[in-house]
Amino acid sequence: MADKKATLTLPGEAPIELDVLKGTLGQEEIDVRSLGSQGYFTFDPGFTSTASCESKITYIDGDEGILLHRGFPIDQLALHSNYLEVCYILLNGEAPTKAQFEEFRTIVTRHTMIHEQIHHLFRGFRRDSHPMAVMCGVTGALAAFYHDAMDVNIERHREIAAFRLLSKMPTVAAMCYKYSIGQPFVYPRNDLSYAGNFLNMMFSTPCEEYVVNPILERAMDRILILHADHEQNASTSTVRTAGSSGANPFACIAAGIASLWGPAHGGANEACLRMLEEISNVEHIPEFLKRAKDKNDSFRLMGFGHRVYKNYDPRATVMRETCHEVLNELGMKDDLLEVAMELEHIALNDPYFIERKLYPNVDFYSGIILKAMGIPSSMFTVIFAMARTVGWIAHWKEMHDDGVKIARPRQLYTGYDKRDFKSETAE
Ligand code: SDX
Repeated sequence: MADKKATLTLPGEAPIELDVLKGTLGQEEIDVRSLGSQGYFTFDPGFTSTASCESKITYIDGDEGILLHRGFPIDQLALHSNYLEVCYILLNGEAPTKAQFEEFRTIVTRHTMIHEQIHHLFRGFRRDSHPMAVMCGVTGALAAFYHDAMDVNIERHREIAAFRLLSKMPTVAAMCYKYSIGQPFVYPRNDLSYAGNFLNMMFSTPCEEYVVNPILERAMDRILILHADHEQNASTSTVRTAGSSGANPFACIAAGIASLWGPAHGGANEACLRMLEEISNVEHIPEFLKRAKDKNDSFRLMGFGHRVYKNYDPRATVMRETCHEVLNELGMKDDLLEVAMELEHIALNDPYFIERKLYPNVDFYSGIILKAMGIPSSMFTVIFAMARTVGWIAHWKEMHDDGVKIARPRQLYTGYDKRDFKSETAE
């Protein structure tokens, strides 16, 4: 029961009392659920001021630049944990014991192969298809192969589907890449880590032994951690909305992949690298900043700004450090990193960005690392989707565990009033 009330006073009407809800952390929230029955809706396109659900998975403080997964700060997880352990934490709520983690890792490792028939599914795509289009299609099609455990009302089915998705997404992601370059698919290997297995499926060939570089393996694992979950972002909200109708988990994750692809969301990493390449050197930065501020120009500074963070995205901080580490350890120099660092420096001192609290987000540096690892920009969002699958599943499971109510927003109708139809085309 809320111990605080808000009173909504409308002209000529009795005041409406609304509960004010308080979570563990974060701002208080006015419970408007009863408004519909009293003849009113709230209006909030883009949900800038609307909480769509209650959740215990992830908390973001946008003003302080804080990101917690089940209470654990993202920088601590990125530096001291590993992606599969973070998956366990997101899905189960607590850090695993050694025994729990070994059991979890064994289950995930032993379900990485996909049905052999799915190899033929890839053949239906053009080789030059964008890998995200292939990943979205293949993920949705998994429902045609794993229908033995798809009753979302059965908890054990939800658990099996979760493991299948977590295990098989790296395999599907790597197959999207191999198919796009005309190389044979590489089967998963159970002796490798989650990140190492992905890199092996991406880069090994039948012609010679491929040894996973531990620097790249650690960097990939950290990138996966940093992209694992981010509360009710556009793609997670899409997964929850799709799941609210009772849709099967593969369809829900495919919907999340589709939403993530947008350049305003997960597609920003690919767009950011393209932008840095277009800027190409620091002398061109002022011209691009001018375009970013021009309301008549649709150009945005990709990798900058965020709906929630009005401070530095804590993931960008870790990503920038990892960027330097990877390039230094690989003995690589990347001119784009120089451009990115200078762009960040200039933008963070520019009144336009300061007034609007626009800071680098998770996508600003990730592209530079992925490029240094030999991954083409068309695969950046595929990797984001692979990493975020655990977050999507965690929210999908939480929604079912808490009791699903179909998502059905209302609208402000500004179209025609009722009018009679007279056909102009009738014979
Ligand atoms: C992700 O939600 C999540 O959690 C997402 C994510 C996750 O992990 O799931 O964190 C991943 O999607 C990160 C964001 C990646 N996208 C980009 O980097 C694309 C560039 N960023 C912008 O498109 C934008 O910042 C958004 C979409 C991210 C946020 O947009 P909002 O919250 O709707 O803010 P807005 O568009 O209302 O902008 C407020 C003002 C506007 O100017 P004014 O009208 O006030 O004059 O800031 C300006 C905008 O024009 N602005 C930018 C800008 N971002 C906002 N101006 C220039 N460049 C930018 N990048």
